Amino acid sequence: MAGITLNNIVKRYGDGFPAVNDVSIDIADGEFMILVGPSGCGKSTLLRMIVGLEDITTGDMLIGDRRVNDLAPRDRNLAMVFQNYALYPHLTVYENIAFPLRLAKMDNAEVDRRVREASSTLELDEHLDRKPGNLSGGQRQRVAMGRAIVREADAFLFDEPLSNLDAKLRGQMRTEIARLQKKLGITTVYVTHDQTEAMTLGDRVAVLKKGILQQLATPRELYENPGNLFVAGFIGSPPMNFLPAEVSGTKVKLPFGEVELPADKAARAEGKGLLIAGIRPEHFEDASLAEGKGEATRASTFTAPVEVVEWLGNETYAYIPFEAPPEVEQQLRQLEQELDGEALRTQLVVSLDGASRITEGSNAEIWMDASKLHLFDPATGENLTVDREHAGRIGETTVSEQEAAV
Ligand SMILES: Nc1ncnc2c1ncn2[C@@H]1O[C@H](COP(=O)(O)OP(=O)(O)O)[C@@H](O)[C@H]1O
Ligand SMILES: [Mg+2]
Repeated sequence: MAGITLNNIVKRYGDGFPAVNDVSIDIADGEFMILVGPSGCGKSTLLRMIVGLEDITTGDMLIGDRRVNDLAPRDRNLAMVFQNYALYPHLTVYENIAFPLRLAKMDNAEVDRRVREASSTLELDEHLDRKPGNLSGGQRQRVAMGRAIVREADAFLFDEPLSNLDAKLRGQMRTEIARLQKKLGITTVYVTHDQTEAMTLGDRVAVLKKGILQQLATPRELYENPGNLFVAGFIGSPPMNFLPAEVSGTKVKLPFGEVELPADKAARAEGKGLLIAGIRPEHFEDASLAEGKGEATRASTFTAPVEVVEWLGNETYAYIPFEAPPEVEQQLRQLEQELDGEALRTQLVVSLDGASRITEGSNAEIWMDASKLHLFDPATGENLTVDREHAGRIGETTVSEQEAAV
């Protein structure tokens, strides 16, 4: 086993396009690292450079402390874990797992030892004589991992392994992969465009946009302290709300009225003109049910026209439309494009207690936990109020990079 280090990795394809642009990531031995971002952001390119299927234009790739830039894939001792379609239907589970060892002409006794050890870890003992076609999705997943385990690879690499599965199976397989990775403790790099997979599987998550690392942090850090608008909009479902905002003194003016901000937050945004406020749906509550939910000084309530209510039993979603000035609208439209069409309408989505009796078409009193509000610079997307100590590493996206990307 080994850690993997990416130092200032750049990949330019033939046309000069930087698909990966100066990315540095340190993956610890045994760590589960996620590479996440919308389609085309360079995830697969990065993974293929780690495994050796794609040349590195500049930068250093280390496995353990060995530089591997010029090593062929088979000399890197990494295992790309393919899914059920890569299993051979005519071979038994045993022979499917043994396959890479047979290719390497390993002697039978050693093959047998490794296959039996893997099958015991993977709880596949009673299935060794069966064919893949008779197994459940989760069992096939384990066979695919077994094949990687017997090679005694230093790390597992996955590229969107669950994207072709239906939602239920995807959930099961996600749990399976998480459980096995913990049990085996093998360094894992996992590519996905799905923020739920990123949040649930990763020890840490690297968020990419257009080949540039935006933030490298734990799921909790990303969720609570996104470094910029892009990360804030990408992580979380339903997504964070974005509203036009202006700070004066310790108050922030939002489309629904003014609320009081914690002083340190206000100080960082005071006098900066028109900003974009970000706040997650769960940081609102029906004011009549909000008692005890937060310090009174931090909390605020406002009255707003509720257009639609969705009651789900355990919670209630309420939708509140608002007007945004053109500068903010334009920034939000651009963000929506970058996020691959996750709809960011100029409406506030709030998640309230299921006990709420708020009705459609009414003016409702809504409480908001202003201590959870973020304020973003609309020009650069930077989170002005981020708590850097709890945000992992935030990529340095300069204004010129942003302009170049438009
Ligand atoms: N073989 C290639 N030649 C030229 N451009 C490529 C090639 N492979 C990928 N790209 C481009 O590099 C960018 C990143 O692609 P990729 O790594 O596949 O993204 P992701 O896996 O995040 O969807 C995309 O803009 C894609 O069009
Ligand atoms: Mg890809």
